[in-house]
Amino acid sequence: MDTFQTALITGGNGNLGRLFAQQLSDKGIDVLCLDLPGTEHKNQTYYKHIFLGDVRDQDLVHRIVKDQRPQAIFHLASLLSGSSETDLELTWEINATASINLMRIAVDFEVGLFFFPSTIATYGSKTRDPLPEDFLQWPENMYGVTKVAVERFGTYLKQTHGFDFRCLRFPMVLSPSAPLSAKTAYPSHACLAAALGDSFNFPVSKETGMSCMFLDDVIRSIFEISLAPRACIQSPAYNLHGFHFTAKQLGEKLKQVYPGFEYSFEADSDVENMIIGWPDEVLSTSATRDWNWKPEFDFENSIKAMLESLTQVSMF
Ligand SMILES: NC(=O)c1ccc[n+]([C@@H]2O[C@H](COP(=O)([O-])OP(=O)(O)OC[C@H]3O[C@@H](n4cnc5c(N)ncnc54)[C@H](O)[C@@H]3O)[C@@H](O)[C@H]2O)c1
Repeated sequence: MDTFQTALITGGNGNLGRLFAQQLSDKGIDVLCLDLPGTEHKNQTYYKHIFLGDVRDQDLVHRIVKDQRPQAIFHLASLLSGSSETDLELTWEINATASINLMRIAVDFEVGLFFFPSTIATYGSKTRDPLPEDFLQWPENMYGVTKVAVERFGTYLKQTHGFDFRCLRFPMVLSPSAPLSAKTAYPSHACLAAALGDSFNFPVSKETGMSCMFLDDVIRSIFEISLAPRACIQSPAYNLHGFHFTAKQLGEKLKQVYPGFEYSFEADSDVENMIIGWPDEVLSTSATRDWNWKPEFDFENSIKAMLESLTQVSMF
């Protein structure tokens, strides 16, 4: 299937889900959401219907897919990297088992397209720079372990059942709505601090940085891969990359925009070790070759867009 008119987004009340739903709805697609009770936001007019429940609830998921017959599923529901370490079994249940069940239901009901967002955290910390596309995936945290498991199961279903599994591996995402609990999202937090007139300590050394993408490019990439003709999707999963910058470069840039911005560098060894192990550049030639992927945001225009968005937010 090369186009779809109805889509289900699991985890649709999260950061990426809401923005993506808005885009689908703007294009006239009927969008359904499944997310946990209590995650609803005001004025979610972009959803035709929001189902409140747990993605681990197999009966619920089965009923939604059977009754609604979405032509595409965007499976974004997940515990993120920080929370994935606190309860390993729960993480496996939500991120791996529930994903596998959902994919099997999608196969049973012949859902045309299944999108899954993975991460370059699936490569662990002993990577090469730039990261080759065929580098072995040996994740070092539970989040990465579950992402690899879903990538493999989806690819298995693609090979054995003709399942249209599409997967993107994102680097760090620069986002105005990055959760404050995500320690590795410090570049997004630094932008927020600067916009609010607060000082900021970078939890890494001055020269530390990693491959990054701006949120708008992330959303656009999901949209573009989902619209690409099926025959073009030659790779089980695509790595994406936007740009690279160091903590020092970000501090200087923010100081340029907000001359009163005060910042320091006091490395937190956990964050520093994680970021140092991740590549500065991730090769993404297959995405360009297969579905014409090209990032629009570089360091300069990402920071500009971040600050514009954060200034609007902090005015309320
Ligand atoms: N934002 C990033 O930097 C990034 C990078 C790579 C991959 N991803 C992936 O993209 C997806 C979306 O990320 P996000 O930044 O929007 O995260 P998010 O935490 O904002 O959204 C995840 C959503 O999943 C929902 N969810 C969690 N457990 C659930 C459950 N048991 N049942 C139903 N819903 C549940 C949450 O309520 C939340 O709304 C995730 O799969 C994440 O791993 C994100």
